Amino acid sequence: MYKISNWVEYCVTSIPNKRGFALDLACGLGRHSIYLSYLGFKVLSVDINKDHLNSFSGTNIKKLLKDIENKENWPLTKIKFDIIVVTNFLNRSIFPLILNSLALGGFLIYETFSEGQQKIGKPKNPNFILQPKELLSLCSTTSLIAYEEICAINPSNHSFKQRIFSCNVR
Ligand SMILES: C[S@@+](CC[C@H](N)C(=O)[O-])C[C@H]1O[C@@H](n2cnc3c(N)ncnc32)[C@H](O)[C@@H]1O
Repeated sequence: MYKISNWVEYCVTSIPNKRGFALDLACGLGRHSIYLSYLGFKVLSVDINKDHLNSFSGTNIKKLLKDIENKENWPLTKIKFDIIVVTNFLNRSIFPLILNSLALGGFLIYETFSEGQQKIGKPKNPNFILQPKELLSLCSTTSLIAYEEICAINPSNHSFKQRIFSCNVR
């Protein structure tokens, strides 16, 4: 199994009640879906890539093959989630939809590439790279718990990231 993000682990560890509905958006090979399901969440794992979705399974994991960038097709209008996890994916225009899918008191855990990344590796497309403090402004309707703008030093893979942990209190 792929290693989970230490940000996701840190945030989830500090959530007292590890029950309820979790959404893993653009879930990839499901590393966070599997982690969340082990902890006791009922997980909805969404991705556009069928092979990615087919590559994993787990107790309490449901999978949905959808293009989450097609706003007309937003799959999650009827459900509110206690926790939403998004890692290594960015489409600025769907933030209002993501935040609207959080239950009252629900937690957002978001981590993706930030300014500087394009100089050391992929992605290079500015559409997929956050500007300084941009994640804070994209999530400004939620209540901030923790935020980082970092260069993660790792022997094989440095990366510039922004990471937020926030709560829907509205
Ligand atoms: C870099 S991977 C990250 C996967 C996972 N979140 C992780 O960190 O392990 C990006 C994922 O986003 C998915 N993706 C890209 N565009 C998408 C879209 N429009 N709708 C749904 N998923 C999408 C890709 O198929 C891929 O699995």
